[in-house]
Parts: sequence; structure tokens; C-alpha cells
Amino acid sequence: MAHHSESVDYGSYLALDQLLALQHPRSEPEHPDELLFIIVHQASELWFKVLLHELHGLISRLGAFDSIGAALSVRRVNALMEIVASQLSALETLPPQRFAQFRGYLGQSSGSQSDQFRAIEALSGLRDPHFMAAISDHGEPPAIVQQALAQPTLQDLFDQLVAHEGTTLEELYVGPAPTALFMIAEGLLEYEQNFSRWRFLHVQLVERIIGPGTGGTGGTLGAKYLQRTISHRFFPHLWAVRSKFYGATR
Ligand code: HEM
Repeated sequence: MAHHSESVDYGSYLALDQLLALQHPRSEPEHPDELLFIIVHQASELWFKVLLHELHGLISRLGAFDSIGAALSVRRVNALMEIVASQLSALETLPPQRFAQFRGYLGQSSGSQSDQFRAIEALSGLRDPHFMAAISDHGEPPAIVQQALAQPTLQDLFDQLVAHEGTTLEELYVGPAPTALFMIAEGLLEYEQNFSRWRFLHVQLVERIIGPGTGGTGGTLGAKYLQRTISHRFFPHLWAVRSKFYGATR
């Protein structure tokens, strides 16, 4: 498999000339904070790209009943999601009055138009009716989202793997020793938590920068809309199994 290419170096391997020429602040004169705003978004989209790639890997491994492989995939997916969430802190250094100075240059552009983000939600198994309505708001969803929706959900795949191994979700949690399946179950729950944490940090950032009552550039109610998305769940079965160990509440 080893291929040597004399002509490859750091810059050409990573296509740095192209990559570093892709930041185009629109404010005039250029606002000193717009570069940070662009780079946090671009970097998030790059991490979304690798996250999508790894989610596809996880889906294949779950589908092939490869539990050790799936456990490793979930670990990586979680490492990526933590990075995406922690990047938002860079924008917490952007005071509201300074964002207001260049927000007008964004026009109608909004994170809600991120096809990769929607594909990640779909691939992770989100089928909430509000979500389904939102993705077809502007006609046909983009191909990347349609492809993600055509995949079985992570929850379905995991349930199938559990059944394939002749056990049940509840048994995973009461067995004598943790198994690979248990590690996947807890890893998927962590993924859900990491994802919700991104949603929470993002809505808090939005409230901090534009205020809780300001509408978004994408035409939503802003923080109010985003607050509602925090309760979306990819793995209701994994949440439900926990209450089975406790008495019913009234
Ligand atoms: C100054 C910082 C930010 C502000 C003020 C902000 C504001 C908003 C607002 C108001 C919305 C709701 C949609 C709308 O009407 O526009 C939104 C959605 C969204 N934003 Fe941001 N955002 C910021 C940073 C980021 C960053 C760094 C990312 C990373 C990619 C991001 C990704 C998204 C995504 C994916 C959505 C859709 C969320 C959903 O529908 O569940 N945002 N943003």
C-alpha cells in the first residue's frame, strides 16, 4: 500500500493555499471580529464533515453486528462532538455591540441552512415532526439530508444488534459484567448528551450575543426556537430503560 511521492509536503498535502484563501469577511471596512466568526463556522463545518464520515462508519459497523468496532466508532464520534461544542467558547468573547457592527453583512445567512448539520441530525436518528417539517421548509431537502434519512436510525441498528446477540436492553444494564454492547449503549447516550450540550451552549451563546428575544437571520424566533430543539432525542429507548429500575412515579 505504500506510495511515496517526493513532491508532497505539508502545504500541498493539506491544500493549505486553498484552505487559507477561503475566508472572505464582508464588512467594509473589515470588522476585526469577523474573521473569528467565519473561522469558527468554517471549522465547525469541517468537523461536521468528519463527524458525518464517522457516523457512516458507525452505521456500517452496527449493521455488520461488529460490536467492538461500533464501540470504537462511538468513542471517536464523542471525541468529535466534544470538539465541536467546545469551539463555541471562542465566540463567547464577541460582545453584542461588536457583533451588531457586522451582523448586517450576513444577510439571510444562518446556521439553520447548514446541510451537514441537518444530515448529522438525520443520520443520528432524529425524526421529530418539527424537524421533518423544517427540513422540507424550502422544498426538497438537499441530497445529503435525503440520503441520511434513507438510512436506518442508530437506535434501530443498535436495537437490532442487541436482539442479534440474544439479549435485551434491560439485561445489558443488569448483567454481571459490562459488555461491549453496554459500552455502546452508554456511548450512544453520551453522544446524545454531547449533542444536546452543543445545542445548549449554542442557544446560550445566541442569548448572550443577540439577546433572548431577537429573531435570527434565518427567520426563526432565534433563542426561543433553539430552546425547543434541546429536548430532541435520538435514543428514547436508552433513556426509557433507566426508569425501569425505579418505581413508577405519579
Ligand atoms: C455569534 C454567534 C452565533 C449566533 C448569534 C447564532 C445565531 C443563530 C440563530 C438565531 C439561529 C436560529 C436560526 C435563525 O433564525 O437564524 C441559529 C441556528 C443555527 N446555528 Fe447559530 N449562531 C451563532 C454561532 C453558530 C456557530 C459557530 C455555529 C457552528 C456551525 C452555528 C450553527 C448553527 C446551526 C447548525 C443552527 C441550526 C440549529 C437548529 O435548527 O437546531 N451557529 N444560530
